[in-house]
Amino acid sequence: MATNQNRWEVGEGVKAAIHAGIGREHLFITSKIWCTDLVAERVGPAFLRTLEELQLEYLDLYLIHWPFRLREGASRPPRGDDVMELDMEGLLSFAKIKPSVCEMEMHPGWRNDNMLEACKKNDIHVMAYAPMEGEQDPVVDRLAKKLNKSPGQVLAKWAIQRGTTSIIIIPKSDTIHENFHVFEWEIPSEDFQALSTIHHQKRVLDGEDLFVADVWDHED
Ligand SMILES: NC(=O)c1ccc[n+]([C@@H]2O[C@H](COP(=O)([O-])OP(=O)(O)OC[C@H]3O[C@@H](n4cnc5c(N)ncnc54)[C@H](OP(=O)(O)O)[C@@H]3O)[C@@H](O)[C@H]2O)c1
Repeated sequence: MATNQNRWEVGEGVKAAIHAGIGREHLFITSKIWCTDLVAERVGPAFLRTLEELQLEYLDLYLIHWPFRLREGASRPPRGDDVMELDMEGLLSFAKIKPSVCEMEMHPGWRNDNMLEACKKNDIHVMAYAPMEGEQDPVVDRLAKKLNKSPGQVLAKWAIQRGTTSIIIIPKSDTIHENFHVFEWEIPSEDFQALSTIHHQKRVLDGEDLFVADVWDHED
């Protein structure tokens, strides 16, 4: 995933990989558009700038980074009324090309059930970010012990069994290797149900460090 801060470095890495013989068609490269560029006339230039920074001819997926845009002239940090909403229903009512993927925070402590359903209904694939949040949750911990897996594996598997893709950050610790072993087993249905009904739901990444405004309606 190439973001604002690392596009050049990702581009260099991709170039090295292609040079070493990996075909571009075997790489799935995603980048994102930032809120200040979410105005019709800025989308094209922002996209082309991204391609240039990545030294690529195409992206496989281009995401909207946050589901709102900043009003014309807004500078960071914005005031509350600098933020304009971009809701999915509104988007689908005028979009000529339906979004393929919706990326959102998702883990057993913030399931986002309503958005998941809305995406399924509209045939939009869901990609979960912050999938490892909840690693400390007692239900996750109990099931990890019961299933003889790590909490990270339980969280990664839960996301897969829900039909979502989870983008897991490369951890500082050595736990990354665990994440490759999530395909040859299943979370039994009663345990999956326990993970899917944790009562206390709370968004962890609300963007308040980036946006002064209270931008969420606190519903999923
Ligand atoms: N669209 C957006 O606004 C948005 C927002 C947030 C994130 N993202 C994207 O989502 C991706 C995931 O990032 P995230 O920050 O949400 O983190 P995450 O994947 O949920 O991981 C959070 C932390 O969990 C710990 N962890 C424990 N067990 C792990 C395991 N088995 N595998 C991996 N990590 C484990 C790691 O801590 P240690 O390093 O201490 O081990 C890791 O840093 C990133 O690519 C990020 O760019 C997007």
